[in-house]
Amino acid sequence: MSTTPTVYVTREIPGSGVERLREQYEVVVWDGTLPPEKTHIESKLRELDAEGLVCMVSDEIDAEVLDASPDLAVVSAFSVGYDHIDVEAAAERDIAVGHTPGVLTETTADLAWTLLMAAARRTVEAYEYVAADEWEAWDPTLLMGADVHDATLGIVGLGSIGFATARRAAGFGMDVLYTGRNPKPEREDELAEIGVDATYVELDALLADSDFVSLHVPLLDETEGLIGEAELRQMSDDAVLVNTARGEIVDTDALDTALEEGWIGRAGLDVTDPEPLPADHDLMRHAPEKLVVTPHIGSSSIDTRSRVAEMAAANVEAGIDGEELPNSALRDAGLE
Ligand code: DGY
Repeated sequence: MSTTPTVYVTREIPGSGVERLREQYEVVVWDGTLPPEKTHIESKLRELDAEGLVCMVSDEIDAEVLDASPDLAVVSAFSVGYDHIDVEAAAERDIAVGHTPGVLTETTADLAWTLLMAAARRTVEAYEYVAADEWEAWDPTLLMGADVHDATLGIVGLGSIGFATARRAAGFGMDVLYTGRNPKPEREDELAEIGVDATYVELDALLADSDFVSLHVPLLDETEGLIGEAELRQMSDDAVLVNTARGEIVDTDALDTALEEGWIGRAGLDVTDPEPLPADHDLMRHAPEKLVVTPHIGSSSIDTRSRVAEMAAANVEAGIDGEELPNSALRDAGLE
């Protein structure tokens, strides 16, 4: 009987992460184009006596999954977010949990700006207009949008991705308002050095005074539904809401009404609730005029996703060897 540890990977992933794992372990990769069912992950872990699991944001990893293989030593998320993993249950079972902070910061900030610009300058509508062969002549009032330069950018959560998004405001001469648990004077200083005036304010003031509001908080009990009816009503009627964090941070029904009734101008979403967002979902009736949507591709550049795969592999290796993970979600969640 082979004593080589077995690792189950719930999707084909880019780059050399899986090859690296194959050099040391028996590696089984789900080859479906859609995520495996939770029951399938459980039965695979059980059948393989897996010691390692590489999982995606679309996989729910709860106590039942963690209990499927008695030998499971490490769950390695192919993501920075680990809200899809029951980290308390993993800690109770001494199962290490890895994630991939840092590597996707800049790429995700790029996408926040992509959505911000696309919503402000109506680029998706503009493309559809050309594709529909409606472009018959230059028109002085055609697809007028909002200026980005000199506007005020509100950052909800000045963590690493929020900060990277704020830094990009320098090129547009924007002021930044930010909110979060505490002011971050050192980050304000760094932004000041590149000419961005960043001010800590309460959420209410940020919503009222920002032309663009970009969300960068993790999904926690206290951030679920953070942006609901009351908050959307505080925004100005031409403001743009951008979400590249987690769909559940915004109350989808309230956003739907906000777009319908014009409490805010537009939204740019890379994450949604529900996710995936079906094309016939109520929210989609606002697209593309008031809504730009991308399918949770914040970290999806070739380089970044390949580096995410390497980091996920490194976490598996450490977990199987019983060593401290290079990037432990349990440590970052204060559970070890
Ligand atoms: C993450 O890493 O948490 C992203 O949301 C997945 O792309």
